[in-house]
Amino acid sequence: MAEATKTIRDYDFTGKTALVRCDFNVPLDPEGNITDDRRIEGALPTIRYLTEHGAKVILMSHLGRPKGEPKPQFSLAPVARALAEKLRQPILFEPSQAVLDDTVKAQATALKPGEILLLENTRFRKEEDHKDLAVQKPFAEELASLADVFVNDAFGTAHRHHASTAGVADYIPAVMGFLIEKELKYLGEALEDPKRPFVAILGGAKVADKIQVIDNLLGKVDTLLIGGGMAYTFLKAEGYEIGKSILDAEGLDLARGLLEKAKEKGVTFLLPVDVNAADSFDNDASAEIVAASAIPADKQGLDIGPETMKIFAAEIGVAGTVLWNGPMGVFEMSNFAAGTIAVAEAMAASDAVTIIGGGDSAAAVEQFGLAEKMSHVSTGGGASLEFIEGRVLPGVACLDKK
Ligand code: 3PG
Repeated sequence: MAEATKTIRDYDFTGKTALVRCDFNVPLDPEGNITDDRRIEGALPTIRYLTEHGAKVILMSHLGRPKGEPKPQFSLAPVARALAEKLRQPILFEPSQAVLDDTVKAQATALKPGEILLLENTRFRKEEDHKDLAVQKPFAEELASLADVFVNDAFGTAHRHHASTAGVADYIPAVMGFLIEKELKYLGEALEDPKRPFVAILGGAKVADKIQVIDNLLGKVDTLLIGGGMAYTFLKAEGYEIGKSILDAEGLDLARGLLEKAKEKGVTFLLPVDVNAADSFDNDASAEIVAASAIPADKQGLDIGPETMKIFAAEIGVAGTVLWNGPMGVFEMSNFAAGTIAVAEAMAASDAVTIIGGGDSAAAVEQFGLAEKMSHVSTGGGASLEFIEGRVLPGVACLDKK
C-alpha cells in the first residue's frame, strides 16, 4: 500500500509560519473583476484552519501565464481584495514586481499568529516555472526561507513542478491542505475503489488529448459514455458518415484501438445514437436531429440528440459512481447546450457519487446552477485529467509521508 501523505492535521502550527501554495488562477474580466471565485472559496477551509491554529500565514499563487515578466494585468491584487472580504480580515499585499523584495520579506518576518500575507504572482519570476529545475531551485529556497512549513493546497497546479508548487518542499516540511486532500479522496476513490457500476462520461474535441484518460479508465470503469467533439472521430472509426463534423484525423487509429480495447475489457462503450446537426458553427444555424450513423454531408454535429440524452441519463441513473469530464456539445451556444444540461441534470438527480473533473464541465455545472448537487466538483482542469490518466502529480509527490 502507498504511504499516506501528511496533511495539515499532522503539524502543530502554533507560532509557526506556514507558506501556503493555493491555486488562485481565477478568470478576470477586462476590468479585473473575478468572474468565477470557486478556487478562492476552495482554499478558505485551509486558510481558516491555519489562522485558527496559531499560524502566521503566507499565501502564494500564480495567475495566468505572464511568462516571467511582472505584468499588471496578472497581479493578484483582485485576489487579495476577495480574500479580505471572504475572510473578513486584512490581507497584507505588496504588489511587488520581484515577488520577494525587502518590504515583503520584512512583512513576512513581522507577521503575528493569525495574520495573512499574500505574495504577488509567483510567475512574475522566470525561475518559478523554468523548465530547468536547477534554475527553479534558488527561488524555491528563497520562498522556503520565509517559513517553517510548506502547505500545498493548489490542486489545480499540482501537475506542475514549479518552485512554488513542489520545489519549496526540498527545504522545509511539506504537508497538504484540505482542498488537495478532498480532491485526492474523490478522484482517488473513484479510480481505486469505486461504488459500481462506475460510469465515466467524456467529451472534448480531440481524441489525442484524452487518449491516456480513456486508456486508464478502460481498466477501471463499467461503462464509458462518449459525447462532445471527440464522439465524431469515434463514429468515423466505426465507419459512419459524419458530414462536416469535427474530425481528429490523427486520432482515428487511436479511436479504433480504444474501441478494440473496450471490447477486450468488457466495458460498455456508448457513442451517441443521434446528434443535433447544424449547417454552420453558429447558434442561429439551421439544425436538425439526425442519426449519428448518417450525418448529412453538409451538416456538422454540435450536440448529442434527445435519444442519446435518454440513454446516457439511464446509465447515469443506475450508476454507483459517475465521473464526468468534457461537455457533450457546444454548450456555450444556447441552442447546442441541451446535451450538456441533460448530463448535468441526470448527475444532479442521481444518488451516485458524482464527480466533475474540472475545466469546462465544472464551468458548465456552475453555469447551470447544479454544482451544489454534485458530490465533488474538481478545481483542477489539467491536474484532474493527469490524475485520471494515472500520472504522478509533482505537487503531491513532493509532500512528506507519514
Ligand atoms: C489551471 O488553470 O489549470 C492551473 O491553474 C494551471 O495553470 P497553467 O496551465 O497555466 O499551469
